[in-house]
Amino acid sequence: MSGANVLSVETVDGVRILTIDRPEKRNALNAAVRTALSEALTTADTDPAVRVVVFTGAGDQAFVAGADVSEFAGRTPLEQREAMRAGLFDDVWNFQKPTIAMINGYCLGGGCELALACDLRIGADSAKLGQPEVRLGIIPGGGATQRLPRLVGYGKALQLVLTGEVVDAVSAYEIGLLDEIVPGVELRERTLEIARSMAEKSPVTLALAKRALRAAYEMPLSAGLTYERELFALAFATEDKEEGVRAFLEKRPPEWKGR
Ligand code: COA
Repeated sequence: MSGANVLSVETVDGVRILTIDRPEKRNALNAAVRTALSEALTTADTDPAVRVVVFTGAGDQAFVAGADVSEFAGRTPLEQREAMRAGLFDDVWNFQKPTIAMINGYCLGGGCELALACDLRIGADSAKLGQPEVRLGIIPGGGATQRLPRLVGYGKALQLVLTGEVVDAVSAYEIGLLDEIVPGVELRERTLEIARSMAEKSPVTLALAKRALRAAYEMPLSAGLTYERELFALAFATEDKEEGVRAFLEKRPPEWKGR
């Protein structure tokens, strides 16, 4: 299924911006969007010119207002399991390059779960976030019951999931669901500023750093600290470590090779 008309793709200074383009449906995630996102991720993964991936939604109403509810009616459990492309948000989570959710407006259900799978969540002051699934007689199925408590704490995650309450940008920021709030007109520029700051670093270094940080979610502290030390030593095997240190000592900007 072609996703050409539901996902627009542009690249700015090494930042791949994926814009989910169904504004008339508040950018709800239907099968075509999921397929397009999956394909775009694969392409971005293998393209060395792509250093950072930004997800956003077209228009000024919504980032993503969740899964496309119209696809739920009459669907059986097995059909739903297949339709979710179980790996999509996990693929975002496991993506080795940095990812940013640029949140303009409603960020609900699967949209919030997409944002939770990203490394950073930058929100417009109009952003509204939540996991309203219980209102539909379902529960979050794209990672929120697991990633949300790890990000905002167990109590706040329970509150959001059990009430289905949608919170504004300030409340989301206060609980750590948003990393920054930006006036809507500045959202793209501020997000690009953060993305560029990552894009200009060595991709191999960022991949190691991200892998080490992910271990903080998965491992007990002692194992995580050991893992960090191993990855730290591994960084010394890269040409970019040699270049970064030399450039500092020679008081010049580094020229990364990405290896
Ligand atoms: N799935 C399918 N369609 C959706 C959708 C979703 N998650 N969210 C919005 N839409 C559609 C609406 O059905 C409507 O379509 P229509 O014009 O053909 O009737 C269109 O998008 C605009 O939505 P509308 O509700 O009129 O816009 P709004 O600005 O008044 O409200 C929301 C926006 C996001 C608050 C509201 O649409 C909503 O609550 N959506 C569902 C959110 C949700 O439950 N997500 C979790 C799903 S698991």
